Amino acid sequence: MKALVYHGPGSKSWEDVPDPVLQDETDAIVRVETTTICGTDLHILKGDVPAVVDGRILGHEGVGVVTEIGAGCTQVKVGDRVIISCVSKCMTCSYCLQGLTSHCQTLGGIGWIFGHLIDGTQAELVRVPFADHGLIPLPDGVSAEQGAMLSDILPTGYEIGVLNGAVKEGDVVAVIGAGPVGLSAIMTAATRGASKVIAVDSNKFRLEESLTFGATDTVDVGAGVDVVEALRAHSSDGLGVDVAIEAVGLPATFGTALDSIRPGGHVANVGVHGESVSFPLERDWINNITITTGLVNATTAPELLEEVTAGRMDPGKFVTHRFTFDQVIEAYDTFARAADEHAIKVVISRTE
Ligand SMILES: NC(=O)c1ccc[n+]([C@@H]2O[C@H](COP(=O)([O-])OP(=O)(O)OC[C@H]3O[C@@H](n4cnc5c(N)ncnc54)[C@H](O)[C@@H]3O)[C@@H](O)[C@H]2O)c1
Ligand SMILES: [Zn+2]
Ligand SMILES: [Zn+2]
Repeated sequence: MKALVYHGPGSKSWEDVPDPVLQDETDAIVRVETTTICGTDLHILKGDVPAVVDGRILGHEGVGVVTEIGAGCTQVKVGDRVIISCVSKCMTCSYCLQGLTSHCQTLGGIGWIFGHLIDGTQAELVRVPFADHGLIPLPDGVSAEQGAMLSDILPTGYEIGVLNGAVKEGDVVAVIGAGPVGLSAIMTAATRGASKVIAVDSNKFRLEESLTFGATDTVDVGAGVDVVEALRAHSSDGLGVDVAIEAVGLPATFGTALDSIRPGGHVANVGVHGESVSFPLERDWINNITITTGLVNATTAPELLEEVTAGRMDPGKFVTHRFTFDQVIEAYDTFARAADEHAIKVVISRTE
């Protein structure tokens, strides 16, 4: 089969590799129909995620059809059309049982293994461990493109942004970074009753789009703009926002999030960080703030899928560019130049 293989920082290729085979009886093989590229894949290519080794097939999102199952699979069947969750989970260890599937101990403590610790979904076929738990049947009426947004980005924005940030009725919420993950936080913040959702980015196209995803206001990070002041001005008393969701992954944007919340406020860090970030505890120890960070569990995918099935949420909106498998390098180039290309989510689909 062909797959997108990582060859160290800055290097990748679409090349021939052996087909994956079942390794455990709880494995399944999925023929990928649609996959996509995550901001995290760009971090990997920058060298920010050193656990990813030369030769690894990238990708942790997608929809496909099950072609083979191990003898231990009881739920998933050959022929099922499924969403591939970005987090794998055994559902028997103590972490899985308490919902922290992203730290599945059976998998060595990290549930995000696709395109990280094992081969991923940017391939014609993928081996899925613990397939009964990691594959979600795609209901009729939900498209492959919509489904692929439920592998990672929509649950990530919701769980690590909105739920970790404890967004509640009436809150003023800033979302720093209006990429797919930030837009997912924006799309789902309304379900918790946020009164204002302010998108912050330098990408004018994404800022404009954010208004159709549920943002009420935008802040354009241009020259001479004091983002913290602009966010404070959106709070009713000027003290700052209730919740700042960091969806970029840079020291500066984490700093903006921290500086823009009010006493008692929350920073929900979602961004993957590749360098150390300073935290002024000498200033903030007194402020009764809460800072959360984490890896998505993707346990809310079924709940979000219900919103999609009922027509209350349309994650198909994320898709701005479509490519075929043999155009995957072009898809990466487009996604990496998102501002110029007016790209949000690029999908890569098989043609037959
Ligand atoms: N924690 C998790 O489980 C998890 C899961 C998936 C993705 N992520 C991470 O979430 C982050 C966002 O992912 P994405 O796919 O949306 O990435 P992306 O790169 O498409 O989006 C990032 C956005 O931030 C904007 N940006 C850059 N610098 C900025 C600045 N100084 N101020 C304001 N905006 C700025 C960019 O213009 C872009 O629109 C990434 O760091 C990704 O690795 C985390
Ligand atoms: Zn991701
Ligand atoms: Zn587990």
